[in-house]
Amino acid sequence: MFSCVCCLQSFLVLLSIASVTLGQRCPASCLCPDHHTVDCTGQGLTRLPDSIPLGVRRLLLADNGILWIPSDFLVVYSDLVYLDLRNNSLTKLEPGTLPTFSRLVYLDLRNNNLTEIPSGTFGESHSLIKLRLGNNPYLSMLSRGALAGLTSLRELELERNGFSVLDVGMLRQLPSLRIIRLEGNPWVCNCRFTKLFFWLVENHHKLPNGLEDMECLLPVNGQWISLSMLSENSFRECLGVLSLKDLLVVMFSGIVILVISITTSFIMASIISYVQQQRMKMLAEEEGLE
Ligand SMILES: *[C@@H]1O[C@H](CO)[C@@H](O)[C@H](O)[C@H]1NC(C)=O
Ligand SMILES: *[C@@H]1O[C@H](CO)[C@@H](O)[C@H](O)[C@H]1NC(C)=O
Repeated sequence: MFSCVCCLQSFLVLLSIASVTLGQRCPASCLCPDHHTVDCTGQGLTRLPDSIPLGVRRLLLADNGILWIPSDFLVVYSDLVYLDLRNNSLTKLEPGTLPTFSRLVYLDLRNNNLTEIPSGTFGESHSLIKLRLGNNPYLSMLSRGALAGLTSLRELELERNGFSVLDVGMLRQLPSLRIIRLEGNPWVCNCRFTKLFFWLVENHHKLPNGLEDMECLLPVNGQWISLSMLSENSFRECLGVLSLKDLLVVMFSGIVILVISITTSFIMASIISYVQQQRMKMLAEEEGLE
C-alpha cells in the first residue's frame, strides 16, 4: 500500500514536470493563439524567450533585438516548421544551426546584421523550402558549402546585402531552386562576375523581375548599369582570363576529343578497307563464275 502511494506520488511529480516542459504554457509577454503557434513579435526581447513549448511549430520572433540563437535551438525544437526572426540583431549563426533532421520549411532572417554564412550552417536540411536572408547590409560572404544539402530549397532571397560577387558553384548545388532575389547588392561587373553573369542569363526566369532589376558597378567608369544592358559579349575579354582549373578542364577535354577522333578515324578506315576487300573478293568470285 505504502509503496503504491509512493509510486503514485512519483508519477504525479513526473507528470507535473512533464506538463511544465511539454505543456501549453505560453512564454511571458508572448501570445499563443493556438497549440502550435508562439507569437513574440515586437516584445523588446534581446534573447530567446524561456519556456517555449517544446511542440511549437510556428515561432514568430520578428521585431525584437535578439542577438544570438544557440546552435542546438532547432535540435530542441525539432517540430518547428516556421521560424520568423526578421528585424532582430543577429550578427552570426552558429554552424549546425539547422540540423539534418529539422522540419523547418520557412526561415526568415531578413533585416538582421549577419556578416557571413559559414559552411555547415544549414547542414543537410531536406525540408527547408524558403530562406530569406535579405537586408543584411554587411552580409558579403556565403561560403561555397553554406547552402549545400538544401535539396528542397525553392526560394532564396539575398537582396540588399553586401555581395559584390557570388560563387556560382553554390547556386548550382541547389536542385530545386525556382526563385532567387539578388537585387540591391553592390555587384561589381569585373571578370570575377563573369560566371555569375552567364548563370544569370541562363537562369533569368528565376529572378522575379529578370535582369532588369539587378545593377552592377562598372569598374571602367564607376557607373551603375542594369544587367539587362550587358551581354555575354561584354565579358568577352574575361573569357581569355581562365583560371588554372578551367585551363586544365579545357586541356583535358582537348585530349579526350583528340583520342576519340583518332579512334573513330581508325575504326572508319578499318570498316572502309574491310568493305573494299569484300567487294574485291565478290568481284573476283563473279569473274571466276563467268
Ligand atoms: C524593427 O523592430 C523595431 C523594434 O525592435 C521596430 O521599432 C521597427 O519598426 C522594426 N522595423 C521594421 C522595418 O519593421
Ligand atoms: C552591424 O555590424 C556592423 C559590422 O559588423 C557594425 O559596424 C554595426 O554597428 C552593426 N549594426 C548594428 C545595428 O548592430
